[in-house]
This record gives sequence, structure tokens and C-alpha cells, in this order.
Amino acid sequence: MSTKKILLSGIKPTGRPHIGNYFGAMKQFVELQDAHDSFYMIANYHGLNYIQNGPEMADLTLNLAIDYLAVGLDPAKSVIFKQSDIPEHTELAWIFDTITTMPYLMRAHAFKDAEAKNKEISVGAFNYPMLMAADILIYDTDVVPVGQDQKQHVEYARDTAEKFNRIFGETFKLPEPKILEDVAVVPGLDGQKMSKSYNNTIPLFAEDNEIRALCMKIVTDSKSPDEPKDPSTDNIFALHKLFALDNLAEIETRYREGKISYKESKEILADNIIKFVTPLREKRKAIATDPAKVKAILAEGGEKARARAVAKMKDVKEKTGLSF
Ligand code: TYM
Repeated sequence: MSTKKILLSGIKPTGRPHIGNYFGAMKQFVELQDAHDSFYMIANYHGLNYIQNGPEMADLTLNLAIDYLAVGLDPAKSVIFKQSDIPEHTELAWIFDTITTMPYLMRAHAFKDAEAKNKEISVGAFNYPMLMAADILIYDTDVVPVGQDQKQHVEYARDTAEKFNRIFGETFKLPEPKILEDVAVVPGLDGQKMSKSYNNTIPLFAEDNEIRALCMKIVTDSKSPDEPKDPSTDNIFALHKLFALDNLAEIETRYREGKISYKESKEILADNIIKFVTPLREKRKAIATDPAKVKAILAEGGEKARARAVAKMKDVKEKTGLSF
């Protein structure tokens, strides 16, 4: 048995991943895969709450697998798999549903947001945290690298593990979220959290002209080029912090001294993003030429993950008296 800590995380296949996904989650995935026994999932059951079109779901799922490989996840080091290849996740989620109350789930931020916006909420979206708890707990996960918006979900997983252990006896480990403070919430073009659902993203694998056009849309105040500007409240500068590795101090000084226009700041940002993204995009294009290989990686990952999930479910079913 490996002595490494167990790590699991996932992304929903609901659109092109953006730079918030990258800095909040994917970059950590790659950095952590050597030191951990790592599981990286494509959360397609979660995604089904948003994408209800078969060909589109299949396409988004394959593309997210390509994205995972392009950013540097390595199937020789990490188990890369589709959530739906492991039916034990949904089976365990059901068991968790039976020990969970409605008021507890109604306290979830995602549920409260949807309610506040008068959105119709599917039962799948309501139960979302229980499926996510199952994803995490079924592998005896120690660490869950995520952005800030998923912190509460990891807390739900901990609570659920504790509750199950209290009722049926010690079974699940209590997982910890791993959130990088500086990139916990990457802002989008409008300054809100970058999110596919807010339509304020810069896709990680965008082409140069798209990156330039999106940077030009970043919302700023109306200060003229020669007015001093406060970098700490500017949406462009927030993104410079991620991409301006060589010239951040210089840009900051120019902001404070009123020696840069927002237009120029956006152009510098676009140049830096393009510099950063180009090699990733080239790698992605090469991987995308062989979809059969990507599918084989997912199939192999699915088998490895499933073996672990089945073993855990055996214990769960014995503890709950479902099998005897
Ligand atoms: P998802 O698909 O919404 O997002 C994937 C990851 O990207 C992070 N993220 C961000 N981080 C910083 N700034 C942002 N603007 C930003 N936007 C997104 C998210 O925090 C997340 O880490 N429920 C999960 C998927 C999931 C999962 C799991 C994760 C399903 N099961 C088990 C971990 C463990 C989700 O919807 O992520």
C-alpha cells in the first residue's frame, strides 16, 4: 500500500475551462500529483444538472479529458476518470441522502443562491453536495484541492463522514479542502468570481484574437490615462497578478503614478496571457488529434477508480446491513 496521502478533485464538463478553473484548481492538480495518490474526475453526473443534450455532454466530457492532459495531468501518475464510470458514487450518494435532512441541504450556498434568483432547482441540483460527498469519501480522500467556492461542499463531505461514522461505526476519513489563498477566487471580466454561469470568463485555451477581445471587455472605472489608479481595486490588475511574472512591480508603479491607461494595461495583460497559454494550447492541439487514446486513458482510469470504489462499498454495505 502506498503511504502517500489520497487526493481527489473534479471539474464539471459544462463548458470550456477558464483561467479561474486553472489557477484555482487545475494548476494545483498538476503540482500535487507526484506527492499524492491522486484521483481526478470529470464530474459528468454533476454536469447533467446543466447540460441536457447527449452529443454536447459527450463532446464536453472528451474535451475536458483533453484539457486535463494538456495542463499536465499524467495518467502514469494520476487516475483520470469519468464519474459516470463508477456507479458506486451514485449508490453511496443515495445512502448519504438517507442520513441527511432537507434543512441541512437548504443551507448550501449554491441552493440559497438559486433560490434567491428564483431559479427552478432540480432534485439533482439540490442533492449535489451528497453526490460530491460520495465522490470524495468513497476513495478515503485526505485532500481536496479546490477554489474557494467549493469549500462548503468539502465541509458537507466532512459532516457527512462524521454522521455516517457516528451511526454505523468508523468508516470514512474526514477530508480537508486545499485552497490556495492568492487564487481562491479568480475574478472575471466584470470583477465578480470568474464563472461559466456569469458569462465573464477568459477560456484557458482561447485563441489569441479571442483573448485580446475579452481583455478589452474588462470592466474598469473611468479614470483617464494620466490619473493615478489603485491597483488593489482594479479588475485588470487582479489578473496581472496571475500573469505578469516579470513586470508586475513595474505595472503597479505605473498605476500608482498615473502612467498607464487602462487600454495599455489590457494590452499588456493580453500579451502576457497569450505568452502563458500558447504552449498549453499547442500541447492541447497535439493531444486532440488522438481521441481514441484519450478515451483509452479514461477507460483505464475508470477501471482503477472502480476497483477502489467497489472495495469501499463492500465495507459500507456490510456496515449498513445491506449485504450480509
Ligand atoms: P467546477 O466545475 O465549478 O469548478 C472546478 C474547479 O475550479 C474552481 N474554480 C475557481 N477557482 C478560483 N476562482 C474561480 N473564479 C473559480 N471558478 C471555479 C472550483 O472551485 C473548482 O475547484 N462541484 C465541483 C466539481 C466536483 C468536485 C467533486 C470537486 C464534483 N465532485 C469532488 C472536488 C471533489 C464543481 O462544480 O467545480
